[in-house]
Amino acid sequence: MTTRSCLSIVLAAGLGTRMKSNLPKVMHEVGGLPLVGHVIKALSAAGSERISVVTGPDMPALEQLVFKMAPMARCYVQTERLGTAHAVLAAKPALEFEADDVLVLFGDTPLVSAGTVSRVRKALENGADLAVLGFETRRPHGYGRLLIENGRLKAIREEKDASDEERRITYCNSGIMGFSGKHALGLLEAIGNDNAKGEYYLTDAVEIANRNGLKVVAVKGTEIETQGINTRAQLASCEADFQALQRRGALENGCTLLAPSTVYFSHDTDLSVDVTVEQNVVFGPGVQVAKGARIRAFSHLEGAQVGEGSVVGPYARLRPGTVLGTDTKVGNFVEVKNATFGAGAKANHLSYIGDASVGSKSNIGAGTITCNYDGYLKHRTEIGAGSFVGSNSTLVAPVKLGNASFVAAGSVITEDVLKDSMAFGRARQTVKEGKAKQLRARLQSAKDAKS
Ligand code: UD1
Ligand code: MG
Repeated sequence: MTTRSCLSIVLAAGLGTRMKSNLPKVMHEVGGLPLVGHVIKALSAAGSERISVVTGPDMPALEQLVFKMAPMARCYVQTERLGTAHAVLAAKPALEFEADDVLVLFGDTPLVSAGTVSRVRKALENGADLAVLGFETRRPHGYGRLLIENGRLKAIREEKDASDEERRITYCNSGIMGFSGKHALGLLEAIGNDNAKGEYYLTDAVEIANRNGLKVVAVKGTEIETQGINTRAQLASCEADFQALQRRGALENGCTLLAPSTVYFSHDTDLSVDVTVEQNVVFGPGVQVAKGARIRAFSHLEGAQVGEGSVVGPYARLRPGTVLGTDTKVGNFVEVKNATFGAGAKANHLSYIGDASVGSKSNIGAGTITCNYDGYLKHRTEIGAGSFVGSNSTLVAPVKLGNASFVAAGSVITEDVLKDSMAFGRARQTVKEGKAKQLRARLQSAKDAKS
């Protein structure tokens, strides 16, 4: 790890008109995390100690996200959107406090890795005054082209200003640049807006640096990492690339995916070794699955922890606040929300367990429902260890079932059940001998009389 100081500036003020959205572009999500969140994550992983984010006016959700992910970050507002160089200068107070390295990243380029950020910094450490991360693509449309002469980066030409010949170049600008701190402000302030869009282009820093005899280099990255998101189609294709990366990561970390392309990951899905994921499983944000657990087909999980050796699904839904201990079972058509299951607890079929705790080794019968909501407030159901809740029981919260208690099938439980006790919350059954036969005879004669 280098000892050089680093300031990273993330540009996120653009409205993203090409997205046709009311949401700022960088707040659109990939893997359940806003685009700009991925960039902040990569910077944090690369050890960038000072992060500044340039936002537009009235983007409170963006500022909240930044401070949540990087509490030490600073936000600067670009009041008018006059181009990428103008945006960087919105963070002038941060630039004036000179760092050895100044990195500029775009909030709409989410898949850049910490390793690639470090390679750009390495180029600065090796003596470059300006380092541009480029990539080769067969679809250069919309990107700035890198003009290389005798192996040296001479200029970046934006699509709108490029000649036909320049447009055929396939080596493109990712937007990620590293400046040596002592030249950054001077270069940025020398940029004008004499171009097709009348904007202050960050990319003009390259020509200016060359004119001043500074050392400019291009660092090559991969197309997947450097793709920029300007349209919904690009967002969809970035999501597909992100999912492919997550699936590969899970396989490399020792998970079995029976049909990888049908499993959807969140940016923070955490699967331990020997986890098996069957077909068509969706992981929303905040899921951790411990060793040896199996997530069976068609299950949907978010905000949930699954204990070692547990089996979830098929067709299970785990919602936020679910904590399953070791060797638990949550079976088909069971929904669990804000509830804990102790070791070995089971709810195998057709249940809703919400705002509850289920003690270890307890068994929840098919069709059991915790009635946690009265239309105004939520209430808890507490089920002790080793309990048995018979099928089709309704547990009206707040209610407690003691350890080793037993609820008869079909009960409506409205009062606490003491430990080792049995509760019957249903009408007593009566049987009338021969009554069915009599009834049928009466109904048949009524029908005959009518016809
Ligand atoms: C930019 C680059 C282009 C590069 C491409 C890579 C320039 C002039 N062009 O084009 O060379 O190939 O990215 O994806 O730099 N932003 C602001 N304020 C502004 C304008 C933009 O904060 O006034 C932010 C946007 O929110 C976005 C980023 O800067 O995160 C890039 O802006 P965008 O309009 O997407 O630039 P591109 O046309 O993609
Ligand atoms: Mg862009």
